[in-house]
This record gives sequence, structure tokens and C-alpha cells, in this order.
Amino acid sequence: THAGIQVAIDGPAGAGKSTVARELAKRLGYLYIDTGAMYRALTWLALQKGIALSDDAALARLAEAADIVLLPVPGGLTVLVDGQDVTDAIRTTEVSRHVSRVSAVAGVRVPMVRLQQKMAMRGGVVMDGRDIGTHVLPQAEVKVFLTASVEERARRRFKEMSLKGADVDLEQLRADMERRDREDMTRETAPLVQAADAVYLDTTGLAFDEVVGRLLDMVHSRAEDGR
Ligand code: CDP
Ligand code: CDP
Repeated sequence: THAGIQVAIDGPAGAGKSTVARELAKRLGYLYIDTGAMYRALTWLALQKGIALSDDAALARLAEAADIVLLPVPGGLTVLVDGQDVTDAIRTTEVSRHVSRVSAVAGVRVPMVRLQQKMAMRGGVVMDGRDIGTHVLPQAEVKVFLTASVEERARRRFKEMSLKGADVDLEQLRADMERRDREDMTRETAPLVQAADAVYLDTTGLAFDEVVGRLLDMVHSRAEDGR
């Protein structure tokens, strides 16, 4: 038996990447790696330390020095930055609004990608983000570009945040999401773009289980050939 393949899931905000990736990893007994959580953790740290988000060099130094850990726990991942549990703190509207500025800095991406590649080295991973199939794991056996209409993605995120008790406005959330997607798609370093060999999957109107089922099928057919 083999250690397992690499599965890369990319797409815009609220497409369902992390929930689908987490469930897929659970079903396969694979490691789930949420790369967005790493950029969020760094953004949280920069805000905490009062670092000017226009200061690329300072952000790059912070990224090199920060100790970011994704700890698998039953039901998900605990995110630690310099030993502090920031799992919930990184999901705020404030972090969401600033994260694409921080993640656009080339000097920030270098240490993050290095860490991501190290975690995926032995296979048996499901990794989600924006540049996984294009830059982080270009050799991944399964690549999926997961998306949904912007209305649907905003509704999903709105429901999720409302359930957690956050005071959010659907229109504001949608506007923030569209701006963040635009920034992620137009940045110079590793922009959000579908990899040439990725399967495009529009999940608008698709049930969660159906999405997970399709991805499981892709993994099973890839894991069987040539091994
Ligand atoms: O969960 P949500 O879709 O809101 O975003 P996320 O996956 O937590 O990612 C947050 C942000 O991190 C994105 O908007 C990107 O700016 C950045 N990101 C990135 O640049 N590269 C990745 N591989 C993952 C996230
Ligand atoms: O990681 P990403 O930003 O792409 O999305 P997510 O955080 O996994 O999903 C956003 C919300 O949509 C979560 O509350 C999911 O439970 C929900 N979702 C859904 O309603 N239908 C799907 N097919 C996938 C996710």
C-alpha cells in the first residue's frame, strides 16, 4: 500500500473548499492542510503587533520568524501562532478584510509555501487554498477548482457567521468577498487561477455530500492507476 496521493483544492472565498477538504481528508484518513488559515494567522499577528500592512519588508520578516502550526484535532484543525490558539480569532471580519494585502507580499509567501510543501511531502494530504495546484503542489495527482456563484458563496458564509453569533450584513459580506477575490486573482505573485490540469467544479446548487462524493471518486480513480 502507498502513503496516499496529494489532493489540491483551489477556488474563491466561500466555495466550500475547507469544509469539503476536511471531510474528504477524514474519509481518506489523509492530513488536511488549510493554507488560508496560515495567511489568516499571520494577518492576525501583524494586526496584533501593530505592523503597518503597507510595510512589505516587515511582513516578510514576520512571516520568516512566526511559528505557525496546524494541529489536527478531532473535527478539524487548531491553529497556533507562536504557541497561542488563534483558531477562532483568525475568522473575524477584520482579519478577512486585511488578509489579501498580507498574502500578496512575495516575501510572505516564500516561507508559507516552504512550510506547506514540507507538510505535504509524504503524500496522503488534502490541501486547500488559492495557488495549491498551480504553485505549491504542481505535481498533485488530483486538482480541483471549486467554485459557486458569488450570491451562493456570500449566503453560505453569512449563514455560517450568523450561526456563530457574529453580527454580519449579507450585502457587506458579499462586497468584501468580491473585493478579496479580485485582489487574490489580480496579484502578481501566485494569483488565484485555475490550473490547466484542474477539474472545474461549480457547486452552486450541489449538496455538500455530492461534492465530497465526486472528489472521492476522483481520488479513488487516480490512486488506483499506476500504483
Ligand atoms: O475561507 P476563505 O475562503 O474566506 O479564505 P481562506 O481560504 O481562509 O484564505 C484567506 C486568504 O488567504 C485568501 O483570500 C488569500 O488572500 C489568502 N490565501 C492565499 O493567498 N493563498 C492560499 N493558498 C490560501 C489563502
Ligand atoms: O473554504 P471556503 O471559503 O471555500 O468555504 P467553506 O468555509 O468551506 O464553506 C463556506 C460555508 O459554506 C460553510 O459554512 C459550509 O458549511 C458551507 N457549504 C455549503 O453550504 N455547501 C457546500 N457544498 C459546501 C460548503
